[in-house]
Formats: sequence, C-alpha cells, structure tokens
Amino acid sequence: MKSAVLLLIVITQISFGHEGTVHGHKPKSPAQEKIPEDVLKAINDSYIKDVKPIFQKSCFNCHSSNTTYPWYSSLPLAKQLIKSDLTEAKEHLDMSHDFPFEGHGNPKEDLEAIGKSVKEGSMPPLRYRVMHPGSALSETDRSTVQTWIFQSLEKLK
Ligand code: HEC
Repeated sequence: MKSAVLLLIVITQISFGHEGTVHGHKPKSPAQEKIPEDVLKAINDSYIKDVKPIFQKSCFNCHSSNTTYPWYSSLPLAKQLIKSDLTEAKEHLDMSHDFPFEGHGNPKEDLEAIGKSVKEGSMPPLRYRVMHPGSALSETDRSTVQTWIFQSLEKLK
C-alpha cells in the first residue's frame, strides 16, 4: 500500500505533471498564406519519408490524435494530468495531419521550435522519457530531424 501511494506521487510529479511554464498565445502570422503549395509539399514529402517514423515513435503520443495510453493512465489523478498534457501539447503543435502541422505556429515557427527542442533535448519531456524507455531521440534521429529542419527552412526562404 505504501509503495502504491509512493508510485502515484512519483507519477504525478514526473510523468505528466505540468512544468508550469507560461506560454504566449499569439495568432497565426499572415505570412503563412504566402508560402507556395509546392514548397509545402516538398517539405512534407521529405517529412513523411525521413522524419515521420521518428516522430511517430517519440512525439505522436502527445502531439497527435493518435494516442496510445500508457498503463499508468488508469490510475486516478494520472488520468487527468495526462489529459491536460495532451490538450496542451496539441494546442502548441498538432502533428496529426502531417506538414504543415497544426497548432499556434506558422510552418517556419514550428520548424524553429522543433529544432530548438531537439537541440536542447527538451522533447519528449523528461517526465515522459522516464516512463517510456526508448522514446528519447537517438543521435541519428536528432541529426535526421535537424537536417530536415535546415533544408526545410532553406526552402521557405
Ligand atoms: C508527454 C507528452 C509529450 C511528448 C511525448 C512530446 N511532447 Fe512536445 N510538448 C508537450 C507539451 C505538454 C507541450 C507544451 C508545453 C511545453 O512547452 O512544455 C509541448 C511543446 C512542444 C513544443 C513547443 C511548441 C511551441 O509552440 O513552442 C515543441 C516544438 C514540441 N513539443 C516538440 C516535440 C517533439 C519534436 C517531440 C518528439 C520528439 C515531442 N514534442 C514529444 C508534450 C509532449
């Protein structure tokens, strides 16, 4: 019993607990409309080929409608925390329908934000990596994603 309580505390603290950052919600910039369709398509083609399998493994559980709930989601409290985490993750960045992603950023902002998170190693969040061994990005994953981001930002120029 004592260990069950302890486990619950650990889970709520590290697995899906919110880290308490404050985010600004700015409207989508109108610059998005000016990007030619064929540029977006070229970026999406290489996304699907090289990057999507990586994101499927490490990001989709929170940043898409394609969620596989972990075993601990049935625990009271954990469930609520996971739910609000998922809502927030998708509000920022929803990868459900490939590139361009949905969420509050335009394509350039999304690419830059992903590049930053990969560089800093902030995604998936530590609390999630602890509970999901194998979800962290490998060195190869990171360089594949960064190459895609670099080439895509060039295409958007
Ligand atoms: C445990 C669920 C979870 C997983 C898995 C996860 N994220 Fe996130 N992500 C979040 C949450 C919650 C936020 C919003 C709060 C924050 O920024 O911490 C977020 C925010 C972000 C942002 C910031 C978006 C913005 O508008 O600034 C980026 C970029 C991002 N995630 C990329 C990724 C990538 C890439 C992966 C996979 C390698 C990933 N995330 C995996 C939960 C997750």
